[in-house]
Amino acid sequence: MDLRRDVTLGARLAVMRTGGLAMALAGDPVLRLLYRPWIDDPTPVQRRLRDATQPYASRSGVLVVATHALCRDLVRDRRFLVRTRSGGSLGGSVEGGRDPLLEPVDLSFLGMDPPEHTRLRRLVGTWFTPARVNAYEPLVTALAARLADEAARRERFDLVADVATPLPVAVIAEILGVPDDDAAAFARWGRAVAAGLGGVRSLRALRRLESAVVELRGLMGALLEKRRHDPADDLISHLAAQDADTDEVVSLAALLLLAGFETTSTLLSNAVAAMTDARGPWAQLAADPARSGDAVEETLRFDAPIQFTARTPHETTRIGDRDVAPDTVVMAMLGAAGRDPAVHTDPDVFDLDRPTKGEHLAFSGGIHYCLGAPLARLEGRVALTALAARMPGLHREDGAVRRRSLLLRSYQSLPVAV
Ligand code: HEM
Repeated sequence: MDLRRDVTLGARLAVMRTGGLAMALAGDPVLRLLYRPWIDDPTPVQRRLRDATQPYASRSGVLVVATHALCRDLVRDRRFLVRTRSGGSLGGSVEGGRDPLLEPVDLSFLGMDPPEHTRLRRLVGTWFTPARVNAYEPLVTALAARLADEAARRERFDLVADVATPLPVAVIAEILGVPDDDAAAFARWGRAVAAGLGGVRSLRALRRLESAVVELRGLMGALLEKRRHDPADDLISHLAAQDADTDEVVSLAALLLLAGFETTSTLLSNAVAAMTDARGPWAQLAADPARSGDAVEETLRFDAPIQFTARTPHETTRIGDRDVAPDTVVMAMLGAAGRDPAVHTDPDVFDLDRPTKGEHLAFSGGIHYCLGAPLARLEGRVALTALAARMPGLHREDGAVRRRSLLLRSYQSLPVAV
């Protein structure tokens, strides 16, 4: 353990926590989003940021865009990048490298700009085209049917633990080629790492996260080595056959796990939560489960699993009415964009019939547009169909727990009954 590093990181965490809380209490809307009660229901703060209609300058130094138009412009504008001029984390204090507090996990090409981004995204891009992903439909359907049957038999269950998490874990494990024996450990570490993705709040959390990353990378590395000699028809074997650095490939495989499962799990639980609210349209879906594709799009708009992303320019660049100085962090509130009244009528109402439901930025846009969007849509559609067809009376029980994260708007548990 590096004591000096821990002391420095601990001191920075304390400053971030107390400074942030003071500014939040003084009314800074962006910092408020990090604390209770605002983190539990960000809608009013997001509305305030969106109503500003132009980039909002937080006292933390971060600029925020929250309208659909500005968020879309930001993520599509190639002058806005994901690393600072020195190659560091956005908003970080580490020159030319990842800041462990803000970016505790190496996110492979999600955290890279061209040309590295282009090269690595190409290595896996062909595995996630809609045609290729559709070939997984029978597998996803069989997995979803098994999980939904088991849950229906139990009558009362936790949607997150019993359906929404095991489904995407099993799917991504299958695509990558993680053997069944390793799948449980893979899911456990993946979950631990995903929980820290939005930045860590304590040194203990950072240590837990770092040891999960070491375990996960160990498993991926061993698998890659095995597939170099004994290839199978899976993504790890495809990566093993490329002329790429082992460390790079391990990060890439870890990115697919992390980007792919907690987000999809969140999509499923947010969909069920929204639709089984008192006036929710679960009955409408149960009457016609084929509408599950509409339910997926409306959930992505209404309750985006990934609430924000960020970019920075390397030269002074204009967004909205502001000239943004190099290395200034600009956050795009993707979740707030989905509730923009300039695009959606009555945006705070969940409506399966909404004509504009597909106009959301839940998968971001531009060169970092979610690689797994076709897979996430397939899993969402198939799982909701399986649940709605078997459980027309599905409803919520007491005890739902929201996860305390600004990045991932999700549930830790969602008790339901059939
Ligand atoms: C509902 C589920 C999902 C949501 C809401 C989601 C959301 C996102 C968002 C917002 C980004 C872009 C972030 C940015 O612009 O900075 C992204 C990127 C990415 N996602 Fe997803 N994602 C989901 C599912 C998946 C799945 C299932 C996979 C793969 C198995 C996946 C793989 C990726 C990858 C590899 C990137 C990086 C793309 C790049 O940097 O070029 N995602 N996702």
